[in-house]
Amino acid sequence: MNSFVYQNPTELIFGKGEIAQLASRAAKLGKNVLVVYGGGSIKASGLYDTVMSILAEQGCQVSELAGVEPNPRLGTVYKGIKICRSENIDWILAVGGGSVVDAAKAIAVGALYDGDVWDIYSLKTISEDALPLGVVLTLAATGSEMNRSSVITNWETKEKFGGRTTFPAFSILDPVYTFTVPRDQTVNGICDMMSHVFEQYFSHTPEIPLQSRFAESILLTVIENAERVLDNPEDYDGRANLLLCGTMALNGTLPMGVTTDWASHAIEHAISAIYDIPHGAGLAIVLPRWMRYVYKENIARFKQYALRVWNVDGEGKTDEQIALAGIAQTEAFFKRIGAPGRLADYQIGDENLDRMARLATRFGSIGQFKTLGFDDVREILRACL
Ligand code: NZQ
Ligand code: ZN
Repeated sequence: MNSFVYQNPTELIFGKGEIAQLASRAAKLGKNVLVVYGGGSIKASGLYDTVMSILAEQGCQVSELAGVEPNPRLGTVYKGIKICRSENIDWILAVGGGSVVDAAKAIAVGALYDGDVWDIYSLKTISEDALPLGVVLTLAATGSEMNRSSVITNWETKEKFGGRTTFPAFSILDPVYTFTVPRDQTVNGICDMMSHVFEQYFSHTPEIPLQSRFAESILLTVIENAERVLDNPEDYDGRANLLLCGTMALNGTLPMGVTTDWASHAIEHAISAIYDIPHGAGLAIVLPRWMRYVYKENIARFKQYALRVWNVDGEGKTDEQIALAGIAQTEAFFKRIGAPGRLADYQIGDENLDRMARLATRFGSIGQFKTLGFDDVREILRACL
């Protein structure tokens, strides 16, 4: 196991009706609040009215930034920063999915940074300070509600990068607010959270039994609850289980003492930077190809995955056959829940393979399970066509 420092300051508030806790948190953070949200799902579900009435009861002066796009764009972040400065905003409340949370994080750091907030995403600087941020999450997927990452797309330059920004001060997760997530977004979220686990599970770090079992238990729980929720979108416990899995998959627990990979995310971000496809859907396409490209680096790890997560029958099989059976089960599961299988499902051909491979390796080689350069990434992308 590697040495590590773990710190996660986000207060996680979880369960039915817990939105009521927003009142006391708002009272602490100040009167001038910027509420950030997306394209209207929170108005349709009634959550917008609930949030606004709680903030009004606390005497908050509310400014709004609506219309944050899935794959949130830098231009929208700039608008939010402008509002923070002109309205003397004390804190920000993000109400929505990962895109809304990520845009709000960018605004929170950008409002207190003298230069261009894109500097933080293009690794020119490190963010030092941020306005306080609260979250009301409506979609189980990214884990952004309990980490300090934020992923923003610069639509002008067609770049999508993750930045190290700020942890939410609090995140309210009521599974009931995820009942309205459409089937395709539920599937995308499932693929995203599973991918987060894969990125941290497939590692050469020796002697990490607890971290491995944490990861396997998240995967097993997602697999057990996925079809239950897809069959019955208002199954409270199923939604609750997925929601908690999404958070636990990317809140800093899994990488304790583990060298992690993240190559598949770099590849997917390059795809969605150019084609604006949903992140989880892109990962469902990339991850199995990545697995097939890299598994020989550590067959024992893939064998463990196959046996413990998919209960593959090892009888009469070589280690490599067991490992490959686990990958096949992963592909079959993604197919069963209706995730896209190829880039062609989004009418993406080979016209931008080089460009995407260049973008994914823009800051150098990626991954640790197998270090991938431009040629490797292009090969994986070609397999995704
Ligand atoms: O915009 P609205 O109207 O709210 O609709 C959204 C959006 O169209 C809808 N939605 C959300 N909650 C809903 C709902 N519809 C009905 N009922 C609800 N309760 O779902 C659509 C997708 O939302 P989005 O926020 O884009 O999805 P997700 O949470 O998957 O976020 C994806 C973004 O997060 C980034 C991705 O790259 C992508 O840009 N990521 C962020 C990470 C992080 N900060 O740690 C890590 C991830 O790996 C990922 O890269
Ligand atoms: Zn992801």
